[in-house]
Amino acid sequence: MKIRKAVIPCAGLGTRFLPATKAIPKEMMPIIDIPMIQYIVEEAVRAGIQDIVFITGRNKDSIVDHFDYSFEIETMLDRKGNTPLADVSRNIAKLCNIITIRQKNPMGLGHAVLCAEPVIGNEPFAILLGDDLVDSKVPCIGQLIEIAEKNQASVVGVMEVPEKEVTKYGIVGGDRINDRLTHVRTLIEKPSVEEAPSRLAIPGRYVLSASIFDILRRTQPGKGGEIQLTDGLKTLAEREKLLAYEFEGTRYDTGDRIGYIDATIAFALKRPDLSEDVKKLLKKHMANLEGVVT
Ligand code: UTP
Repeated sequence: MKIRKAVIPCAGLGTRFLPATKAIPKEMMPIIDIPMIQYIVEEAVRAGIQDIVFITGRNKDSIVDHFDYSFEIETMLDRKGNTPLADVSRNIAKLCNIITIRQKNPMGLGHAVLCAEPVIGNEPFAILLGDDLVDSKVPCIGQLIEIAEKNQASVVGVMEVPEKEVTKYGIVGGDRINDRLTHVRTLIEKPSVEEAPSRLAIPGRYVLSASIFDILRRTQPGKGGEIQLTDGLKTLAEREKLLAYEFEGTRYDTGDRIGYIDATIAFALKRPDLSEDVKKLLKKHMANLEGVVT
């Protein structure tokens, strides 16, 4: 079992970020000066994946353009002698092969994944959500691929969340194999605190067998009237081996305002060209805040 392709669903409407997402895809919003989607694609490429399938929709063309050459910008920069910056642009186009499929109506994440079937066919594949960033030494999806290949099984990435946050995620329940690995027996999308089978939440990284397509085709709309990937995964867990792996790394929910601010600060502090200035800014704002409080 070799994972060669990754699906990145990008067809959602991004309503949590309105009005910014009226005309700009949420996935193109930058963390500093790099669009979120580029971090996600780079994660997949670092994990050895070369074929990336974007599930797109109306108003999402800029995502695809970002991974092509930008002839005017690159030529102008070359002419001005700024080849290093021209290369920054060109290298994005060289990252990987891009395949796009339209999800003509955003009917949910499960439906978006099903749209990838004509490209994926019968092989296992990775899924990365476009608004979840994971900062880790070994790319998060690479960690899952290793577990999937070793165990010949589907794998969902999970992280432990505080009890009150289980209502925001798909939550897995099952038998612990070791510190990081669980054999999944059940999954519930956004359960109440009482219903939740554990505190292990699925943020947005998966390696799945192609059987998920047939399951999703038969999955009825669930919470919010959408075809939920979590509902499809529940059936997959009943039919085949599904593991949950607590990945190493820090995850940011960049589809949410606070998660987005958190990621921006964290990534800026890690950037050698920005960190000193950002620290000064943070100190200034904290001092102002303390001045107000006292
Ligand atoms: P989200 O629910 O976080 O994205 O879906 P959204 O619907 O764009 O955001 P809000 O809640 O309205 O702010 C997770 C991922 O799945 C994709 C989204 O683009 C996002 O990357 N998605 C979601 C689809 O591709 N199609 C869908 O029908 C729904």
